[in-house]
Amino acid sequence: MPRPDVLETLVSLAKRRGFIFQSSEIYGGTGSVWDYGPLGVELKNNVKARWWNAMVRERDDVEGLDAAILMHPKVWEASGHVSGFSDPLVDCRACKARFRADKLGDAACPRKPSKQPGEHADCQLTEPRQFNLMFKTFMGPVEESASVVYLRPETAQGIFVNFLNVQQATRQKVPFGIAQIGKAFRNEITPGNFIFRTREFEQMEMQFFVEPGTDMAHFERWKQDRLEWLLGLGLDRDRLAFHQHTDKELAHYARAAFDINFDFGGTLGFQEIEGVHNRSDFDLRQHQEYSSKKLEYVDQANNKRYLPYVIETSVGADRVTLALLVNALREEAVEGEQEGRTVMGFHPALAPIKAGVFPLTKKDGQPEMAERLAAALRKRFPVFYDEAGAIGRRYRRQDEAGTPFGITIDGDSTANDSVTIRFRDDMGQIRVATSRVAEVLGRYLEADHARADSRLVE
Ligand code: GAP
Repeated sequence: MPRPDVLETLVSLAKRRGFIFQSSEIYGGTGSVWDYGPLGVELKNNVKARWWNAMVRERDDVEGLDAAILMHPKVWEASGHVSGFSDPLVDCRACKARFRADKLGDAACPRKPSKQPGEHADCQLTEPRQFNLMFKTFMGPVEESASVVYLRPETAQGIFVNFLNVQQATRQKVPFGIAQIGKAFRNEITPGNFIFRTREFEQMEMQFFVEPGTDMAHFERWKQDRLEWLLGLGLDRDRLAFHQHTDKELAHYARAAFDINFDFGGTLGFQEIEGVHNRSDFDLRQHQEYSSKKLEYVDQANNKRYLPYVIETSVGADRVTLALLVNALREEAVEGEQEGRTVMGFHPALAPIKAGVFPLTKKDGQPEMAERLAAALRKRFPVFYDEAGAIGRRYRRQDEAGTPFGITIDGDSTANDSVTIRFRDDMGQIRVATSRVAEVLGRYLEADHARADSRLVE
């Protein structure tokens, strides 16, 4: 079960092991912006590659796109973001803190954290005012209203404005989708909880264009497909749940919407990691009107033309990475040892480093043999070579990094050209010929665990 203090444990482990650092830390940090370190960038890249493969490469009805972050400002008028992408904000004149007016119940008064803002005698809350979440900047050398541009708050609009470009270039027929991965920016009023809600983040979004009337069937199918994908990452089934948006929660563009929630534990509990939305023809209709360009799809075979409806799947790469970290964290006792161990039990295919290679001693040709093996394996996947310190400590460091396999070169290795593979999850060991290591690890990378299993070695 998720532990109450899991995020605190993760923030310190992430820094110690090089998963995630606070942005500009030496200057005191930038509010709710994070940098991915050597392990974190591999982990997030693995998430993104897996999504891209599932959504684009393994399908023939979804095309890829990489649209620019900066777009024509009219895009955001048409999409409704200039007028409507805002949260109600209140300031406290006494302590200068800011809160979302609609989330006061979830916030704590800085002067008396057991009370909510407004409940302490000193509190002086202002009337709520709307605060637009888009970051505004200027294009070109002159800072004037005519040159205002926005950092995109979602990647989706890059797909809508390219709908016909992609359809005509690829000759796809409806139903088909367009997918992209990219940065999005939101000037969140109450960001926080590590990388859960940040001001700069990455989205993996797919818009599936369908004939009106067929939309709800596609919506149901995508809901199930997306849950399957999340399960395939190794996230526990009982930590995932659908949440259907009520009429009050539905976004201005949505006909129907479900969140896929993940249980982050502690005070966060179940929270959205992905949204599946039926956006009707709202976006294409708006862009058609604001651009005065026809965006209809022509179905020549059936002699029809129409604005397709859109089923959107939208998932945050950072939120999935956080879910993987929460899901993977295990602190366990080890038989015969006083200190327990911390293990990040990632699915082997997602683990940042696949294997640690360790010579048992620094003599008898063991380091040379280990370095040769590490160099050969590096051609296939990320490998960490370590000859420093006691072997037990080296294993523990890799357990914390989530490395599924430890390969040890010992006295017998140089004599009979074999090594031991130690498995992260059950600490079991097997001996294999050096020439078979890459092949055996390849089989294990497909499995969703790193336990000794003789069927994968035979
Ligand atoms: N195009 C639809 C859209 O953007 P959303 O529910 O606002 O929908 C989709 O965002 C996903 O993007 C969320 O489920 C979440 O994973 C991620 N996301 C949104 N805001 C975020 C933030 N401030 N920090 C990190 N991830 C965020």
